[in-house]
Amino acid sequence: MKKLTLSILLIVGIKTFAQKFENLAPTPPMGWNSWNTFQTNISEDLVKGVADNMVSSGMKDAGYTYIVLDDGWMTMQRDEKTGDLVPDPKKFPHGMKALVDYVHSKGLKFGLYNCAGTKTCAGYPGTRGYEYQDARFYASLNIDYLKFDWCYSDSLNAQEAYGTMSKALYTAKKPIVFSLCEWGSHQPWLWAAKDGELWRTTGDISSCYEGQKDMGGWKANCFMYIVDLNEPLRKYAGPNCWNDPDMLEVGNGMSEAEDRTHFSLWCMMASPLIAGNDIRKMSAATKATLTNKDVIAVDQDALGVQGWRYATKDSLETWFKPLSNGDWAVCFVNRSAQSQKINFDWKNENVNDDLSSKQLNGATTTYKIKDVWTKKDASTTAKAFSATVAPHDVIMLRLIKQ
Ligand code: GLA
Repeated sequence: MKKLTLSILLIVGIKTFAQKFENLAPTPPMGWNSWNTFQTNISEDLVKGVADNMVSSGMKDAGYTYIVLDDGWMTMQRDEKTGDLVPDPKKFPHGMKALVDYVHSKGLKFGLYNCAGTKTCAGYPGTRGYEYQDARFYASLNIDYLKFDWCYSDSLNAQEAYGTMSKALYTAKKPIVFSLCEWGSHQPWLWAAKDGELWRTTGDISSCYEGQKDMGGWKANCFMYIVDLNEPLRKYAGPNCWNDPDMLEVGNGMSEAEDRTHFSLWCMMASPLIAGNDIRKMSAATKATLTNKDVIAVDQDALGVQGWRYATKDSLETWFKPLSNGDWAVCFVNRSAQSQKINFDWKNENVNDDLSSKQLNGATTTYKIKDVWTKKDASTTAKAFSATVAPHDVIMLRLIKQ
């Protein structure tokens, strides 16, 4: 009897102190977000069009689920009487709940954005001081995902601010994926696994390959710049707690090779895949990149281990990611402006991952090789792999255990 009472007390205790819903993101979340292409020019028609397209383009089939409205969905003031946030009636004439229901009717999920500070980055009402009220509001709208930014946060303590919002969401009882967006400023990888499912590791992405772009007052990051910051954080990532190197810029102006590299590396790093292009108008090439199921399978692999940069030589990088069932993903990244030759002899390499305790022993195990972009079977690891990688392009392989 005593034992039973103790167990009940323990269960009740754990429930009271837990702040995060269980297993909302066993694999990295996939979806679409309005910011990269539309900034605050968002509307009901846009969201409906995106939802329809998500289904008709094959994005939903490929795994994209969340449609997230970023900054700009509210009016400039909270409701005078209730203090609630007010979805902009000009942009959303039928109200937000009707739009959430529409997205749900397509078998998709819906997300919104706000900020831990007093205002959002675009100057709309922030959540500071309204955490529990806003969480109840989101629950009443039946949303599934909240991106929570860090503008106008002044002297706020990041751990406390995000902890409070996480607790508020939990208290409101509607399971909502909590996406922390404080740009890696306070090393969220060290403390946010208890609060949310993903955390931004860097400042904002821009549609460019290498370095940073001056935005007048702040700098945006080209995707390889982000890769270098995100790669060393692999030990903090795993099911329900992902490093987020920001939303995708695929289809937003880079070359096909660069888009392929961007997408491949996001998948090698088990990153959330949140498309940021206008999927209603994407080219066949963009669609093919975003919906490549073999590449996405690397990102969504159940083992949930972030890959790493195994070697770099003359701007040619070799990346590995262990997968479930003993398979491996390999990605050769040509970071230079010239073509580069690969000659990779598996039996001379010792790919040992201390983090996952997985080992790729090319001398004793032979894997079948599949090129996940060209879809060609490229022989086996019994002989050295030779190929040429175009500038700013990749060759990405799946090694399949025989
Ligand atoms: C910040 C975030 C972006 C986007 C904008 C919106 O810059 O990092 O991802 O949400 O705010 O204003």
